[in-house]
Amino acid sequence: MTQLKNGIKSPIQPSPRVAGNVQDVWSIINAAAASTPNQPVVNMGQGFFGYNPPQFLIDAAKSAVERLDCNQYAPPKGRLRLREAISNAYSPFWGRKLDPETEITITTGANEGFLSCCMAFLQQGDEVLLLEPFFDQYISNIEMAGAKVVSVVLQPPKSGMTKTHSAGEWSLDILALKKAITPRTRMLVLNTPHNPLGKIFNPEELKQIADVCVENNILIISDEVYDRLFYVPFSRIATLSPEVERITLTLSSAGKNFYATGWRVGWVMGPPELVSYVTKAHARICFCSPSPLQEAFAIGFEQAEENGFWDECITDVKSKMDLFNEIWHELDMPFSEPEGGYFVVVNMSKVQLPENYDFPTHVLNRPRDFKLAWFLIQELGVAAIPPSEFYSPANQHIGEQWMRFAVCKPDEVLETAKERLRGLKKYIN
Ligand SMILES: Cc1ncc(COP(=O)(O)O)c(C=O)c1O
Repeated sequence: MTQLKNGIKSPIQPSPRVAGNVQDVWSIINAAAASTPNQPVVNMGQGFFGYNPPQFLIDAAKSAVERLDCNQYAPPKGRLRLREAISNAYSPFWGRKLDPETEITITTGANEGFLSCCMAFLQQGDEVLLLEPFFDQYISNIEMAGAKVVSVVLQPPKSGMTKTHSAGEWSLDILALKKAITPRTRMLVLNTPHNPLGKIFNPEELKQIADVCVENNILIISDEVYDRLFYVPFSRIATLSPEVERITLTLSSAGKNFYATGWRVGWVMGPPELVSYVTKAHARICFCSPSPLQEAFAIGFEQAEENGFWDECITDVKSKMDLFNEIWHELDMPFSEPEGGYFVVVNMSKVQLPENYDFPTHVLNRPRDFKLAWFLIQELGVAAIPPSEFYSPANQHIGEQWMRFAVCKPDEVLETAKERLRGLKKYIN
């Protein structure tokens, strides 16, 4: 008999893949934020935008829902207009025309795109290489496909506990990556710009990773959902060489690109002989993705360049990043200066939590960063994400020194957060 938190019992047993009793970070932080008397909490936890998508996209969505042809199922690989618009937007990066018929497939956000890749290529007992820290959703998707996660740590900058440094200084030990390969290794997941670190892998690092994968026939899944937010040059692993392109699937997210994460549209790009299987898996998981919103994003991509939207994204988010990070300079707390994306990780080892602080049990038995996150919510009214959640259990000690803040919020919200975070002064060693 399973028992839910509210005491209701069911004779039906859940599958082990969802029955684990460890509460996920999002529900802990969101519930804590909702329950604290310190309201309204400034929520810099989950990566949702605190402002609307651009008006040209909203107008496009409004007109799409009025259209008969947009309100029914889309083809599983997505509406042709969107695939063509993506092809036009991304072909310049590839230096050749991407075929909208065979090299692009639309998914229900990058999340479902990733699940479709796992379902298309993984089997029971396969191994998948992840670079830690990693976006937590990868694990369950890999495990749902029956495969096993093998992780290799991105080493923190040597002086990361005491000095602010570039996020690019989190480094991959390529020998450790090579050592982690076994005959069962089928896939490597790369994320650049990186969540939560804000690191952009430079061309040399990409080449080292790619060489290992080409040599060992390992499929590369390159999660590039923050590809429009880069503050240093950004390179795409698929474009390194034809050999690398043959083994790479690139994941993207229209929701992230256009500040509309709730619209649930993403896509997967790659060679036809790989993309066709992703489409097959996607068709079996959800058949197709929201049709009117695909049409809206198609119009969005068609108009973004001429509206100067991509440049505006970089300028806006970078200025938010700089505005918010002033507080860490003021408090003399080290952080990783992001090279891309909208997250910043801050080293919190200087913060002394009061002894005998009354943490609830579900927080007490978690790493230190969960306690810090709880404390920030309860005492200061600011919610952030404890990054130990993005590590395998053996390496959580690395993540527990840091805290992740999402800066995709209106400037006034960032100013309020800074004002509240000044309250940390009395706890800093
Ligand atoms: C690294 C990374 N990949 C994928 C996703 C999911 O993107 P989508 O909202 O398009 O499913 C996220 C969302 O936070 C993310 O941070």
